[in-house]
Amino acid sequence: MESVWMNDTEIRKREALPGDMEVPVVVIGAGLAGILTAYYLKQAGIRAVVLEADRIGSGQTKNTTAKITSQHNLIYDRLIRMFGRRMAAYYAGANEAAIGEYERLILEKRIDCDFVKCPAYLYSQAGTELLKREAEAAEALGIKASFGTECELPFTVAGVVRFENQARFHPLRFLEKMAEEVEVYEQTKVLKVTGKRVETARGCVTTEHTVFAAHFPFINVPGYYFARMYQERSYVTALEGAKLPEGMYLGIDREGLSFRTCGNLLLLGGGSHRTGINHGSRAGGECRYEMLRSRGRELYPGCREVLRWSAQDCMTLDGLPYIGRFSRRRPGWYVATGFGKWGMTTAMVSARILTALIGGRDCPEADIFSPQRHFTVQAARELAVHGAHTAKGLAKHFLPAGNREIIPNCPHMGCRLEWNPEEESYDCPCHGSRFDREGHLIDGPAQTDCERHDNSGV
Ligand code: FES
Repeated sequence: MESVWMNDTEIRKREALPGDMEVPVVVIGAGLAGILTAYYLKQAGIRAVVLEADRIGSGQTKNTTAKITSQHNLIYDRLIRMFGRRMAAYYAGANEAAIGEYERLILEKRIDCDFVKCPAYLYSQAGTELLKREAEAAEALGIKASFGTECELPFTVAGVVRFENQARFHPLRFLEKMAEEVEVYEQTKVLKVTGKRVETARGCVTTEHTVFAAHFPFINVPGYYFARMYQERSYVTALEGAKLPEGMYLGIDREGLSFRTCGNLLLLGGGSHRTGINHGSRAGGECRYEMLRSRGRELYPGCREVLRWSAQDCMTLDGLPYIGRFSRRRPGWYVATGFGKWGMTTAMVSARILTALIGGRDCPEADIFSPQRHFTVQAARELAVHGAHTAKGLAKHFLPAGNREIIPNCPHMGCRLEWNPEEESYDCPCHGSRFDREGHLIDGPAQTDCERHDNSGV
């Protein structure tokens, strides 16, 4: 199922790594975060090569809804309470600056990528209290935000928070142009990283700095990202014939939806769930795509689905991304992961922070994003939930499956995979790796295909 962005963009192919080399920086992953990091490093006079296992933009960048926004659901009121006003202001400032930087680059390089400035809204049909608090917190941190009750959606809302000067664009056309300025090797899967050696099937790169920007880091130790991140899937349907809002919308209620205009289409999103927990799919309830389609028909009678696709997002324990040093035990390693649903602004924030760190420049906002930041009460609670899911997935490894069932175990750490009938994939409930029907790897952190085995004893 192709996204609307893949439908009209063909990024030029690149060569694979030609053999061993030595460079100051290796960036693993040619999505938005990796390409932008390499671009800013080059601007700073530092050579970086990007190694991509597949093709440029073939990971999660192609599946986004491409909202460039500092509005990351309900976050600012919580951030102030968790980290204090100064740190929360760094988060807000870095994301607002990211929006401005996209605009600057797009204008300077004349990138034809449907960049449109527009407001972003959070809405609720249930109540106003959380929205009012969020509007106040965002405003206190310097964001142009306001609470209101008016919006363009085809149903009544209790209230909205409106952020001004946000934007939307075509992520692959932007990526295509930016990648032209960067040294990228495709079809070059990184197999192993040890100290200053990055090993691929095509050769070994010796480097001072390695940036892990390929979604979920595949190295388990040090870093332990598997213990403090999980993945979520969410779904999008592109509707023709729906009324198109000027603003971008996100519902904060349990069944809240995402709305965003894209040309003559409405992108309607929702149905998020932890990867590998497939209740609500065809096996156990309404198909998530069908849920979106039926909401679309109900809200916009006569509309027609022209495309649908899904996204996979890395979620952290406290809801903030991990950007910075990979681990205290690996001084030359860096990471950009855990972007949640906010990959566009966070990719830009990552690129700016990592360029500063590698270049030895001061970067006060880096602390709030640091993977080594202090552990909050919320993070502790999430850790317990995450640990329970992992323990359950691992325990199933040792249980016999049903009589005729053929359910593989995950090659990452051995959890029992779950069959996802909606997308016809095997999904891991522990850390979110995914495999197709034949066991070929779709999403990491697993590095290899899974072995299908027959538990029926036949
Ligand atoms: Fe970690 Fe499957 S992704 S065990």
